[in-house]
Amino acid sequence: MWLQATLLLLASCVPSSLAIYFDEVNHVDYHHALLGFPSPQSTFFLKPSASSHGSLLYTLSENSLLGAVNPKGGFLLWRQNLSRTALPVDSNAHHLLRASEGTNALVSALGDYLSSWTALDGKLIWENWFVDETVADLELLELEDATASPSVKDTVALFGGKAAVVRRLDGDSGKTKWEHFDESGDIPFQISSSSTEVFYVSLQPSSRKGYRIKVTSLNPLNGRQTQQHVLNSESDVTSADSVLFVGANTAAPFIAWADQSRKALKVNVIGTKQVQTFDIENTSGESIRSITVHAPKKLESLTHFLVHYETESTTWAEVYHINLKSGSVSKAYDLPRLEGWSAFSTSNKDANVYFTRITQSETTVVSSASHGILGRWTHQAPPMEQALHSVSEVVSKGDTVAVRSAAVLASGDWQLIRNGQTEWTRYEALTGAQAAAWVEEDTQEDLVHQLQVEGHESLSGAYLHRVKRHARDLQHLPEWLKGLPKRILTSILTDEVSNLDGYGIVKPVLVAAENGRVYSLDAGNHGAVVWKVKAAEAESWNVKAILTQPGSATIYADDGSSVTLDASTGEILERSPATVKIRSVAVASDGTSPVTVGIQENGVPAEVVNGPGFFVTLSDDGSVLGWIASDNQRPAWQFRPAHGEKIIHATSRPSHDPVASIGKVLGNRSVLYKYLSPNLALITAVGENSVTFYLLDAISGRILHTSFHQGVDTTQPIASVISENWFAYSFWGDVIDPSDAKGYQLVISELYESSIPNDRGPLGSASNYSSIADLPLPHVISQAYIISEPISHMAVTQTRQGITVRQLLCTLPKANSIVGIPRPVLDARRPVGRDPTANEQEEGLFKYNPFLQFDGKWYLTHGRDVAGIKTVLSAPTMLESTTLIFAFGSDIFAIRATPSQAFDVLGKSFSKLQLVLTIVALSIGVAVLAPMVRRKQINTIWKATS
Ligand SMILES: *[C@@H]1O[C@H](CO)[C@@H](O)[C@H](O)[C@H]1NC(C)=O
Ligand SMILES: *[C@@H]1O[C@H](CO)[C@@H](O)[C@H](O)[C@H]1NC(C)=O
Ligand SMILES: *[C@@H]1O[C@H](CO)[C@@H](O)[C@H](O)[C@H]1NC(C)=O
Ligand SMILES: *[C@@H]1O[C@H](CO)[C@@H](O)[C@H](O)[C@H]1NC(C)=O
Repeated sequence: MWLQATLLLLASCVPSSLAIYFDEVNHVDYHHALLGFPSPQSTFFLKPSASSHGSLLYTLSENSLLGAVNPKGGFLLWRQNLSRTALPVDSNAHHLLRASEGTNALVSALGDYLSSWTALDGKLIWENWFVDETVADLELLELEDATASPSVKDTVALFGGKAAVVRRLDGDSGKTKWEHFDESGDIPFQISSSSTEVFYVSLQPSSRKGYRIKVTSLNPLNGRQTQQHVLNSESDVTSADSVLFVGANTAAPFIAWADQSRKALKVNVIGTKQVQTFDIENTSGESIRSITVHAPKKLESLTHFLVHYETESTTWAEVYHINLKSGSVSKAYDLPRLEGWSAFSTSNKDANVYFTRITQSETTVVSSASHGILGRWTHQAPPMEQALHSVSEVVSKGDTVAVRSAAVLASGDWQLIRNGQTEWTRYEALTGAQAAAWVEEDTQEDLVHQLQVEGHESLSGAYLHRVKRHARDLQHLPEWLKGLPKRILTSILTDEVSNLDGYGIVKPVLVAAENGRVYSLDAGNHGAVVWKVKAAEAESWNVKAILTQPGSATIYADDGSSVTLDASTGEILERSPATVKIRSVAVASDGTSPVTVGIQENGVPAEVVNGPGFFVTLSDDGSVLGWIASDNQRPAWQFRPAHGEKIIHATSRPSHDPVASIGKVLGNRSVLYKYLSPNLALITAVGENSVTFYLLDAISGRILHTSFHQGVDTTQPIASVISENWFAYSFWGDVIDPSDAKGYQLVISELYESSIPNDRGPLGSASNYSSIADLPLPHVISQAYIISEPISHMAVTQTRQGITVRQLLCTLPKANSIVGIPRPVLDARRPVGRDPTANEQEEGLFKYNPFLQFDGKWYLTHGRDVAGIKTVLSAPTMLESTTLIFAFGSDIFAIRATPSQAFDVLGKSFSKLQLVLTIVALSIGVAVLAPMVRRKQINTIWKATS
């Protein structure tokens, strides 16, 4: 009794949101939490607070995501989405992130938005908007005579707008301490500071051509101008890009630029008028492609800097020292010219400055003081992919040094190299993935083909074929027999109940990234990248679809080109050149092999498809066109929404959408027949403040059903999906009950052949469906639910036979989650305003409640922050219970879900060994007991008869 009570108590403590067992997290699902391409100027190692032991890696990516990554393992610790709060910024806006060691504060700027975050856990300290201004540059003040507490650093920021403004912002609150206006009309360029002064650098257009660099010194306490001088740089500086570098926060910040022919390097120590010129040696015989300057950004560090030169095939560098007393600059030493690329980075430890050079074969570290190599590590083969920029952290112990560098590769991925060894790679290029598809394994394909051949032959021919096939199979027999004992043993002894890999539940996924690369993710290994290739010939592409065939995959880009890859190695098998611009790819399947056709911007198919089939396209003038595949001269039908409406979305039933039962059995054993047409299209059209959903028959273009909603905010997400005999959509608009309210709604509509059970309507008596004109209209039952947050995308789970309960997969952009709502919960026939009758209860219906709370168990993403999801795909596996779900957008998330529990798989707790031992024990028992029992029986017979 006591035990029972304890168990009950325990059971009630278990959170109801445990939809999968804890040990299944990371086993059935994986998540790539991505940041995007790390910006070169806003990525660094930093000790988050004075007390922390190690440093973390921070970046503000070009996707406007600010995040901290643990350099051990490469896990994301926290991230913030700045584009949620900043006004939409143009693509070349500065992504600025600054920090000061040991203050536990980061300051970031994007467009008009400035914010400060705690470095340890990414909590907001302050934020500030400067309307009609954009932040051009940002520095943290490292004043020597810090009046404020040393743990807080004020920010100086330079704003561009109607006039340039320099502001000092309080480190605790972000409030403006002083402002300095510059109404001269110069281009605000950069901000710099030394231990005693703030410098405002602007570009003054010269009367002839080019710009003069103007440096204004400001008093850091009140922002008053103390000095100003103009450097005669107009013959060299033609645009802001001509200035190579403006340093900050060092004892001697400097400006560096080169002349237009790149023959001379010019350096000015800020605050002085003197410009020093150095010849750039040009012995490589190639023109210099780029010059970059690397300098430390710490007050206490030595005033040394490195200039990195790059030609088409070689790189080298020069190190310069600035003499603090005289302000003169001198060249200290050269770093040798090497073939191939190099990525340089600066790091400092106290006053010492180190330069780290990464090439494709090695990492080397030198001290800024002398050219002797302190450390050299050879990289493992294969040669490292080109790094575009890197940040490093050097630690020195006596004479030896150790280094770790985070390098951003040309593919957009981020790699940590510790003493020459690759520690981890974050596949940041996967952010903003454009298309994805599961690989089809080609193992079974041969058999399928053979069976097809047999199906088409005469009886005797097929028999012969089959005998031959089995004879051929015999050659694998010895091998199979050899492996048998091992297989039996491992299958008994492993704790994994059964290896399900053969059931298609760990199919790799191909993902097409924006930068022309294709990745293969291994579902069996936490989504690790198996291979990546650059499939596009250009720097970027716009992928419209990936179609997989057994063993290979074809990727279609919007310029009409396609590329076919080997799905297991990524090898490029075939390329087809660009043709016309397409908006989508239609697949017309005629049973054997699918035929693809590109759809042009105006909705017209790019080519004629030979074969049966039809498809529906959207045209750029806002109408829906229906086409017969073999005729692309003119559409078979055309549909235009009501006047003033614009089509925003069109969707159809998934290509794999099996229907397990054609009717719905009611509690009293009568049947409501489902309206099952494979040719349904659901069109979403928005008006001024309304939305209309049109259900069309895709063959005739006839409207089967319309639902219209008013008072809709069309700027909020509107999602829709159609499957089997139902469709669902969500939007933000007027709520009918209670009226006068507005909210997010989820509406479900079910289609039946007739409102009367056991009646098939006009279809029942019709002998065939082919007459288009009298296709009956469906009987539609709808129900609306009020939900607490918007849904940006909908999909439906797919299983092999469609027997498993379907889930409506909804992407929740506010919660950064994906929920799978079981279809029975959304049943449109739930009784309204009364309890269900006995019959309805038997059917599984329960009382309708207008408010739909998302149950914790429905969250497929669990506690994860799965951000920016644009598309959710679902695919069946060989197991009816199991469906694969893959979501992409900003992040990548995948899970193997079992909407009705894994009814066809043995649970983890099932022990094969125990079963075998039980059987053995029973056999022994039977063997021992059987003679005894027999003897006893014989004895009883003897006793009875005697
Ligand atoms: C360097 O030399 C090459 C070939 O001799 C020439 O094309 C180039 O213009 C020169 N100057 C620079 C700055 O690259
Ligand atoms: C079965 O129940 C449905 C409603 O649940 C009702 O419309 C129908 O008439 C019933 N059929 C019979 C045969 O009682
Ligand atoms: C289907 O019905 C149409 C008209 O109702 C008729 O012309 C056609 O022959 C029928 N087809 C079959 C296969 O019965
Ligand atoms: C960041 O916010 C923007 C704007 O709200 C959104 O479009 C984007 O998907 C978000 N990205 C992530 C990763 O959350």
